[in-house]
Amino acid sequence: MMPGSDGFPLPQPSSRSSVEIYRMWSIYKAVNQRLRAGGAVVNLLVGEPSFPPPAKAVAAAQAAMAGPVGYTETLGIRPLRQGIADLYRRRHGLDIPAERIAVTIGTSSGFMLAFLAAFEAGQKVAVVEPCYPAYRGTLKALNLTPHRIGTDAANGFRPRVQDIEALPADIAGLVLASPANPTGTLLPAADLAEIYAACRRRGLWLVVDELYHGIVYGQPAPTILGQGPEAIVINGFSKYWGMTGWRIGWLVLPERLVPRVEALAGSLQISAPYLSQVAALAALECEPEMEQRLALYAANRQKLLQALPGLGLNSFAPPDGAFYLYCNISHLADDSVAFCQRMLDETGVVAAPGVDFDSQEGHRFIRFSFSVEAGTIDQALQRLGEWLPRQARRG
Ligand SMILES: Cc1ncc(COP(=O)(O)O)c(C=O)c1O
Repeated sequence: MMPGSDGFPLPQPSSRSSVEIYRMWSIYKAVNQRLRAGGAVVNLLVGEPSFPPPAKAVAAAQAAMAGPVGYTETLGIRPLRQGIADLYRRRHGLDIPAERIAVTIGTSSGFMLAFLAAFEAGQKVAVVEPCYPAYRGTLKALNLTPHRIGTDAANGFRPRVQDIEALPADIAGLVLASPANPTGTLLPAADLAEIYAACRRRGLWLVVDELYHGIVYGQPAPTILGQGPEAIVINGFSKYWGMTGWRIGWLVLPERLVPRVEALAGSLQISAPYLSQVAALAALECEPEMEQRLALYAANRQKLLQALPGLGLNSFAPPDGAFYLYCNISHLADDSVAFCQRMLDETGVVAAPGVDFDSQEGHRFIRFSFSVEAGTIDQALQRLGEWLPRQARRG
């Protein structure tokens, strides 16, 4: 151990805390700098709905605030767990016992609890990329090693079952999302069936992030729970219900993991915030209001799909769900971070660099988020319409 300035040994940060910082945040800082300097920004960077939460949810939280606001049962208030179980019956015709549902602090703490409950420290876990970057960060922080399964636009960014079958023998599990961030790829029931069966044959834990369920542009997203009780499902109120800051997620667990997650959650989170649970319960009754909002995303998506090819961005898979479009820019640049920075500097339009989402190929991609007002998409297309056709490959 190196000595400190006082001559005594200086304890060092742990190696597992050395997770990558998303490059998106460096772009985010540049956005704020530009705004502070009085510049305009057309923001297609962040993956957050631009809507307020449903009015009934806000009212329910306000009413609850007048009473005692305390801890709840570790796995969440009973009515919310039951309400989520009812959602599976409504959406998928599935009978999921409320006892298998754990309410978490956003999906983020759901991932932490699920990974801790399922994996031994030091194990390797396969991750379908491109993906939400926190899968890799959370695994690494828990002393687990992510193992990349690559996908490409030619196959609609869907994982191939052969790639799962060909995984090395020491892989303990598989993490994927449907619909996925950043690609919007939705896996049809037939793909889910193959993936579920392949994981069962290998005895792998299968963790499926279904946070974008409900935000789809064609067929509804089937849940992996339709294939059997062995998958771990992650979901929450951040995207479809537009409640990112309320921090409510949930897990649907195989029965034998429930007591493990309950014990872990007792130490790691005590409970999800009570007021947010009350709001989430009320939000479950607001599906008609949420459905109306989807029309905006659908219109934004359509505008991008129609306009981008004419501007020279024509290599992408049209998203089936979520609110992202993941575009290949390799004919223009080899460094997606530098490209996003240049685009911001020269047009004010900001997108996310692919490097956060794909550890190998991300330098050749950028992600547009279209969870914004219609006017923002129009402005972005107008500015990019002048700029993109003038871009030659600058490395
Ligand atoms: C696929 C996916 N999973 C999980 C999250 C995190 O969501 P939460 O707000 O529930 O922690 C995000 C956030 O963008 C995401 O895109």
